[in-house]
Amino acid sequence: MLAMEDSLILGIESSCDDTSAAVIRGSQVLSNVVANQALHAEVGGVVPEWASRAHLAKIQPVVQAALDKAGVQAHELDAVAYTLGPGLQGSLHVGTSFAKAFAWAHGLPTIPVHHMRAHILAHVLEPGPTPNFPFLCLTVSGGHTQLVRVNSPSDMVVLGQTLDDAAGEAFDKVAKLMGLPYPGGPLVDTLAKEGNPTAFSFTKPRVEGLQWSFSGLKTQVLQFLQKEVARNPDFVEQNKVDLCASVQATVVEMLMDKLREAVLREGISEVAIAGGVSANSGLREALRKAEAQEGWTVHIPPMAYCTDNAAMIAAVGWLDHLEGLTGSWDAAPSPRLPELKPLASRRVE
Ligand code: KG4
Ligand code: ZN
Repeated sequence: MLAMEDSLILGIESSCDDTSAAVIRGSQVLSNVVANQALHAEVGGVVPEWASRAHLAKIQPVVQAALDKAGVQAHELDAVAYTLGPGLQGSLHVGTSFAKAFAWAHGLPTIPVHHMRAHILAHVLEPGPTPNFPFLCLTVSGGHTQLVRVNSPSDMVVLGQTLDDAAGEAFDKVAKLMGLPYPGGPLVDTLAKEGNPTAFSFTKPRVEGLQWSFSGLKTQVLQFLQKEVARNPDFVEQNKVDLCASVQATVVEMLMDKLREAVLREGISEVAIAGGVSANSGLREALRKAEAQEGWTVHIPPMAYCTDNAAMIAAVGWLDHLEGLTGSWDAAPSPRLPELKPLASRRVE
């Protein structure tokens, strides 16, 4: 018989605009299928109603593809983990309903998962190494920017967060001002590689403690572009790579400043990043530099586990299953879930 550590978990993620399913055996990822919803690009942002419909159309084939790729049959699974929140209500409903129906049909327990806790715990997946606890995690996505002290998989303390926009949102909004399609973050990153990060300078807003404000950056860029475009209508086109490099450098500096402050304050130099923006090459480079120059131990997730994916949801399912936790059939999706904690409870035997 296989040990509990090797349990087979199906993960389902549908919180925003990616439909994803994954199968893991312990920390080993057997499959991780992600179907992106390209339909939002044309309107410059995620349309919640379209996202829900696309999830509904894709979820069954995506789950089947994950099982097939893993060579696993539904009856062999030990549990079904799914994103309960935070995220878009309609999108979460599709994943939650599918996960519960699938689990019910196959006699499996469910494990509801907090999406941001999953981004952090993606670090337990192979190839690793898993960070040593306690570690600090800078969680940067399209909806969140948080500094988290991770004491254990089930004990996480949010030390600080953004007061307004998330870092990913800042990338996306600035990209939109430059006429780039949604999501702009990865495009800004690509264009920044060709540009000069000191070509333009943007002020970093002063915010107390381990908090950020990104909405001011967008306004600053907007006003700067309006002024320049009035003089030269081709300004954006002619300076796109330098604009991207300069904006990226500003966001990365803002993130690194607070991360440095947290390292000093908490006396922890084991540092991880998580979430969509952890795919950013400028941020990854800044962390590697801090590792070499400031003696940090840095954990950067593989690209596939930076943006939304179901392997990270399955990872939380695996850890909570090991703890004997299981979800309730009436667990309701929630767009907001402030605390980074397990959403399942101890099984009553
Ligand atoms: O974690 P994620 O996939 O979805 C949320 O939970 O929000 O993060 C998506 C965010 C988007 O704002 C996207 O533009 C940003 O991550 N992003 C990036 C990069 N790749 C994704 N931002 C900057 N550079 C990147 N390479
Ligand atoms: Zn995410």
